[in-house]
Amino acid sequence: MSIIDSPERYGSISRFFHWSIAALVLWQLVTATTTVLFEDSWLDKLTWATHKPVGLLILILMLGRVAWALLNQRRRPSSLNLPSHLGHLALYALLVVIPSIALMRQYGSGRAFAPFGIELMSGFDGDKIEWMMLPANLLHGWLGWALFAMALGHVLMAVHHRMNPRQQDVLPRMLDVSARK
Ligand code: HEM
Ligand code: HEM
Repeated sequence: MSIIDSPERYGSISRFFHWSIAALVLWQLVTATTTVLFEDSWLDKLTWATHKPVGLLILILMLGRVAWALLNQRRRPSSLNLPSHLGHLALYALLVVIPSIALMRQYGSGRAFAPFGIELMSGFDGDKIEWMMLPANLLHGWLGWALFAMALGHVLMAVHHRMNPRQQDVLPRMLDVSARK
């Protein structure tokens, strides 16, 4: 398989970004659901410890994904229709905005942040920086749940397009499965 995209299918690098980020988003769903349902349980402590580092990893992968998408813009498969194009763009936007505003809040809180043992933010004494915390305080959780809902809709649409003989099967563009007979 080619590493770059073609009009027929996504290449291996786009697929790596798609599936690795899909798996990490699924993990974020697990961490967020666990914290809502079993707050302060041993399970919550275990999974929540990974929420921020995994969120950061998603943002780092997304920066590569956006750059790669721009480089491949002219040769990658074209969207089936305008709603699917806008849906993919919205997923991209959420995957960048959600972790970015959370990191901004993390900085503004003055608390240290050392994901994977690397000191990214050393923290500071004194007042919190309220304007840096506001966007995530207002939006981070809501946008996170909206992302999960949209991702579920996206998966259902992919299944619908594969199952419904009147639709174009797009799964082979992103996964090594044979086209629907
Ligand atoms: C794409 C990545 C991320 C997704 C999808 C996501 C999703 C979520 C969701 C759905 C909640 C709400 C849980 C609830 O209702 O109680 C939440 C909460 C939280 N997240 Fe994230 N998150 C991501 C990245 C991050 C990052 C990078 C950080 C910090 C650096 C972070 C820090 C927090 C904190 C502190 C909370 C609890 C306060 C709040 O609800 O805003 N998240 N996240
Ligand atoms: C079982 C899970 C999933 C399946 C079966 C799936 C399937 C697909 C397929 C078939 C395409 C190609 C669509 C086309 O070219 O018309 C695609 C593209 C895409 N998917 Fe998924 N997907 C899954 C999970 C996710 C998740 C969790 C996200 C993000 C939260 C996501 C984001 C995207 C985006 C943004 C595109 C546009 C192509 C790109 O720029 O990479 N997918 N997906």
